[in-house]
Amino acid sequence: SFPRRVFSGVQSTGNLHLGNYLGAIVKFVELQQSFDCLYCVVDLHAITVPQDPLKLKANTREIAAAFIACGIDPKKNIVFNQSQVAEHAELAWVLNCVARIGWLNRMTQFKDKAGKDRENASMGLLDYPVLMAADILIYRATHVPVGDDQKQHLELSRDIAQKFNNDFAESILRNGFGEAFFPLPEPLISGPATRVMSLRDGSKKMSKSDASDYSRINLADDADQIATKIKKAKTDPDALPSEEKGLEGRPEAQNLVGIFAALSQRAKADVLAEFGGANFSTFKNALVDLAVEKLSPITAEMRRLSADEAYVDGVLRDGAERARELARANMDAVKDIVGF
Ligand code: ADP
Ligand code: NA
Repeated sequence: SFPRRVFSGVQSTGNLHLGNYLGAIVKFVELQQSFDCLYCVVDLHAITVPQDPLKLKANTREIAAAFIACGIDPKKNIVFNQSQVAEHAELAWVLNCVARIGWLNRMTQFKDKAGKDRENASMGLLDYPVLMAADILIYRATHVPVGDDQKQHLELSRDIAQKFNNDFAESILRNGFGEAFFPLPEPLISGPATRVMSLRDGSKKMSKSDASDYSRINLADDADQIATKIKKAKTDPDALPSEEKGLEGRPEAQNLVGIFAALSQRAKADVLAEFGGANFSTFKNALVDLAVEKLSPITAEMRRLSADEAYVDGVLRDGAERARELARANMDAVKDIVGF
């Protein structure tokens, strides 16, 4: 009964990579055809770990430029950055009082990012999933395209929405919103590659925060950097198998074949039918050619747009205005429901 609306975000932490592209942004581009979409640069999320103030704004512009370079139309969709719409933080406070500490303590991303010194992690890092719930729910969004790593956070968003609807059921009804104020947002985890792994270690996901630049292909990389990184990518001594079951127990081979398939919009089985029996150096050469062919037009457009700060800032300003209008109305309703 809720109108279909998409929300998703990417952190302005630099190093936008192939995993973000194949796991999230390709899907964003596709969804704009059939949904009302908000695509957000989540800079409030970025500061859950230390950021250089001189770089944060440039990183925000880079992500916005990447959205547009990848094919997101900023007229058709709302493209903005989170810090410009105060209602995200305002709703997060209300949702903090709905979410339970135990729910957040169970989040695996917090455990991974906080590492051994959990007592010293920021409160924001622990609270990250509540802010993410607020990002989605402030627009009463129904669908959220994300990579596989965000699945647990999306489940938490649903739990928070559900608990708000239950805790305030009477007031929601009294204020004329019927049975439920928030929809339970559905994850759309179905991009061309929902989990791209590190090029250096097939057991870790490709990530902006990996210390090794060789672990990921950045959308800002030029053809030489892409070639070097793919050629250095970890593999195993065997030739490529001709069928998918031959990839079992070979995470690095699995990952490279997955990237090839996603970039060429082919099935893995089809890729292996072509390259089965080939050694990695042959396959890597083909992957370099493919990656350069697909990514270099995006990189060039990203560079062109990033250089035009006035244009990107204008897109973000316009997007924030449109987002604020939706967010303000929903926040007013939440205030009535809570009793403010
Ligand atoms: P990162 O996890 O690299 O810091 P973000 O948290 O900003 O990036 O994630 C932006 C989007 O990219 C999210 O939808 C996330 O699920 C997706 N994503 C991030 N890393 C990967 C990956 N290695 N494979 C597929 N999708 C990913
Ligand atoms: Na992430």
